[in-house]
Amino acid sequence: NLIPEVEALLEKMTLEEKIGQLNLLTPGGGIATGSVVSKNVETKIKTGKVGGIFGVSGPDRVRIAQEFAVNNTRLKIPLLIGADVIHGYKTTYPIPLGLSCSWDMDLIEQAAQMAAKEATADGINWNFSPMVDIARDPRWGRIAEGAGEDPYLGAKVAEAMVKGYQQNDLSASNTMLACVKHLALYGAPEAGRDYHTVDMGKVKMFNQYLPPYKAAIDAGVASVMTSFNDIDGVPASGNKWLLTELLRNRWGFNGLVISDYTSVNEMIAHGLGDLQAVSALSLKAGLHMDMVGEGFLTTLRKSVKEDKVTEAEITHACRKVLEAKYKSGLFEDPFRYLDTDRPKKDILTAENRALARKLAAHSFVLLKNHDNILPIKKDAKLALVGPLADSRNNMLGTWAPTGDPNLAVTILEGFKNVASGARITYAKGANISDDPEFAKKINVFGPRISIDKRSSEELLQEALAVAKTSNVVVAVVGEATEMSGEAASRTDISIPDSQKKLIRELVATGKPVVLVLMSGRPLTIPEEFDLPVAILQVWHPGVEAGNAIADVVFGDYNPSGKLTTTWPRNMGQIPIYHSVKNTGRPAPKDKFEKFKSNYLDVDNTPLISFGYGLSYTTFEYSNLTLNKKNIMQGESVDITVTVENTGNYDGEEIVQLYLRDLVRTITPPIRQLKGFKKVFLKKGERRTVNLELTPDDLKFYNGSLEFVSEPGEFEVFVGTDSNASLKKSFVLK
Ligand code: IFM
Repeated sequence: NLIPEVEALLEKMTLEEKIGQLNLLTPGGGIATGSVVSKNVETKIKTGKVGGIFGVSGPDRVRIAQEFAVNNTRLKIPLLIGADVIHGYKTTYPIPLGLSCSWDMDLIEQAAQMAAKEATADGINWNFSPMVDIARDPRWGRIAEGAGEDPYLGAKVAEAMVKGYQQNDLSASNTMLACVKHLALYGAPEAGRDYHTVDMGKVKMFNQYLPPYKAAIDAGVASVMTSFNDIDGVPASGNKWLLTELLRNRWGFNGLVISDYTSVNEMIAHGLGDLQAVSALSLKAGLHMDMVGEGFLTTLRKSVKEDKVTEAEITHACRKVLEAKYKSGLFEDPFRYLDTDRPKKDILTAENRALARKLAAHSFVLLKNHDNILPIKKDAKLALVGPLADSRNNMLGTWAPTGDPNLAVTILEGFKNVASGARITYAKGANISDDPEFAKKINVFGPRISIDKRSSEELLQEALAVAKTSNVVVAVVGEATEMSGEAASRTDISIPDSQKKLIRELVATGKPVVLVLMSGRPLTIPEEFDLPVAILQVWHPGVEAGNAIADVVFGDYNPSGKLTTTWPRNMGQIPIYHSVKNTGRPAPKDKFEKFKSNYLDVDNTPLISFGYGLSYTTFEYSNLTLNKKNIMQGESVDITVTVENTGNYDGEEIVQLYLRDLVRTITPPIRQLKGFKKVFLKKGERRTVNLELTPDDLKFYNGSLEFVSEPGEFEVFVGTDSNASLKKSFVLK
């Protein structure tokens, strides 16, 4: 489906002009995530050596850049203006891992739509999001940026985000081109170390890791970003199997493919040759745009001369860049996203902040509620302690370069806003970490860990004094913003010792204690989980952090989030995820047995399961029914289950459906998520919930990578988390 206007333009272009379009630069206005920041960007734009830029925002600034392009170059081709709008533009909402815990696709789509409205108001027309990398290793810091471990849920989230950003109309002034990233398998680096080697067989890849990328493509995503890692020994940016055979030929993707930041150049360090060689390899593999490294710009002409690439390959890549510009309406009007009235009208509005507050409250997961400590009465005498309780700098979370931490509501402020009748006393209690060297590494983008002048003992004693004179203690503890995210892998994902001590001592006072746990990843919390406390996991909640936490802590919103990652008992269990296989020697439940698949020192089960999350109310499940006992290929199964709110609060429940395929040609996982529904039930209400298994839900990629279902018995489990126990079976004939 060639676009005539683009083809006509290509006809007029010289080789140089085409190569120029393949160059994506940043003058460095955002976060530089590699060693290079582009030089002489203005001159390069004016001389037709740039196809797009990122890290520039605001209608006035973007207009200047756009004018450089359209007023100075021979063919007046406008620029793509990119940005990393990962969890909100200026109205920062929870980190994506948190957002995924809402399991609420309408809300996630609304969130992305709001981000698109704000970003386009500020001149952006292309977003480097969604990141849909499946992650099953919480050591990897960028687990914070995805939707967790599950391919089914991950695919739904990917689709919702693409819809939200693009709204099926790329040229509308409030939508932007989305860019699904990072193709592929970026979330599976060895030992959880960022950018590390990935080694994965195709069956696992197709069944467990690729579905979210494919879902984004099926949803019409306009662009794809390659990953830093290698796949079967070839880095993604130069991997022809990945970019041509899989992405273009098998999945039918017809849009723009860009590299990650200098990932073409990094193929030199990977060991694939010099800049000319890796640039040629990438172009031939199916990459169209080179981010920051300028390998395409500086070597492709030479490669054409030396017959290492063809002009047709360059024309093809250029076509993809121009088509993206055409689709976003830039040829019609290069200044269409540059209305100076819009930022005031569309950014950080009360409506947007209200949505961010709602999104945050929906992302929280109640992990424990000993003695129903939560919710707390609004007139309580409350000690608010912990290094994250009054820390504005740590509310937004990782990858929020367009957000302003100064606008974030702290927990202390939120509590005062929501519970003005409460008597709140605050004490820091501990540093996030007492280690100055560690703090230095974390504070690269601003002061996230501030080590107090007072000694740890003084901090602790102050908090204990405050706790002793209160009726309830809320301790806000966990990770600083930059303790997760890009290049923030950890080999110990427990709460830092300074804070662990504070928690222990607070509990020893005998006062009821609520831990508000903030982090960008699952943590190992076996000791804390055993304490008689309430634990509310809040991730990094965004600009409305304090208000949203207060909404939940004081009972204005009943928490409904469910984990989208498994929480390990200890580091040795990693990788750990719910859809494990049985092995030939499954371990017996709850006891060790020699020559079975178990550990000597820890149970196989996780500390907290995928799909888990409590509410202030309770839900009971009964009457699981399937409409058929036997089905033929191509038929669906209708499922009903009765859910009753048996507790004392109205609330939402995320009803989950898991499937076990008992016999097939490829070893099946013990159970796989295949459906869910979020329902609101008033106190005492009972409701029949309908779910469906479609023919595709029974399919998997077999040893020949065909997507098939195979005859045999299937078991269906429905319930409140991945341990759901109501069970029924059917047979696929
Ligand atoms: O989009 C990001 C990517 O996720 C990591 N490297 C830098 C890119 C552009 O900022």
